[in-house]
Amino acid sequence: MNVLILGATSRIAQSIAAEHAKDGDSVLLAARDREEVKTIASDIQVRHSTRVLVGDFEATDVDSHPGFITDAVEALGSIDTAYVVFGAMGDQEGSQQDFSAARTVLDVNFTGAVSISEALATYMEERGEGAIVGISSVAGDRGRQSNYFYGAAKGGYSLYLQGLRGRLARSGVHVMTAKLGFIDTPMTYGMKTKIPIASPEATAKALKNAATKGKNTLYYPWFWRFVMYLIKAIPERMFKKMKI
Ligand SMILES: NC(=O)c1ccc[n+]([C@@H]2O[C@H](COP(=O)([O-])OP(=O)(O)OC[C@H]3O[C@@H](n4cnc5c(N)ncnc54)[C@H](OP(=O)(O)O)[C@@H]3O)[C@@H](O)[C@H]2O)c1
Repeated sequence: MNVLILGATSRIAQSIAAEHAKDGDSVLLAARDREEVKTIASDIQVRHSTRVLVGDFEATDVDSHPGFITDAVEALGSIDTAYVVFGAMGDQEGSQQDFSAARTVLDVNFTGAVSISEALATYMEERGEGAIVGISSVAGDRGRQSNYFYGAAKGGYSLYLQGLRGRLARSGVHVMTAKLGFIDTPMTYGMKTKIPIASPEATAKALKNAATKGKNTLYYPWFWRFVMYLIKAIPERMFKKMKI
């Protein structure tokens, strides 16, 4: 199987790459930091002796996305499964003070993710097979005052993926939405929470298994489905007063 991973310097992305490489799959690791991604690729290649390629990918350069997919297909031979992993949490206060910071959060997590997913959809629909795994977040399930730019972008991406899944359902292409809770990566570094934090390795296993089984939406860890069910049930008149 040929696998494309976008945002390959992320800890979760590295674990996804290792999971596929273990099975002998070919992987193309695409990221904006070429040196870093080359180091990650050599490490995976040495450990698993499989084909590991690297590519340059910038989420906000949407004009480059269709050409990027053409080049990726040429390099790999085909794209059977693509993981859209990149993301940027940003800083809520900074985003409130300076809209350019908010715009980056929206551009990376929503516009960039939608743009590359569309380019993948066009390729896979024409081919009549493939799978797109979009990494979203439980933060997109309800707008919270503490991170509503990131939450809005992820929530928008979840809705987009839901629509895309419907569009591609009859063409043999599967679209999975992954709504992640807390995962132990630089994005959550220093975060104080009583809710258990999952490892990137366990997350990658769960993502690969769910994608293989053709799941539509995966909450990971699983208990976030219930946590978000409860959070969404809080009446707005109470929710707006809660400092979360
Ligand atoms: N960790 C969590 O608890 C958690 C929870 C819910 C959802 N998620 C989602 O999981 C995904 C992976 O996140 P992570 O936790 O592994 O965080 P991470 O280690 O901070 O990884 C984020 C990745 O996104 C890449 N990226 C950021 N801006 C980019 C851009 N403009 N173009 C291309 N790549 C860009 C980064 O590249 P550089 O290395 O070049 O910066 C990095 O590879 C994200 O979509 C995130 O929103 C994470």
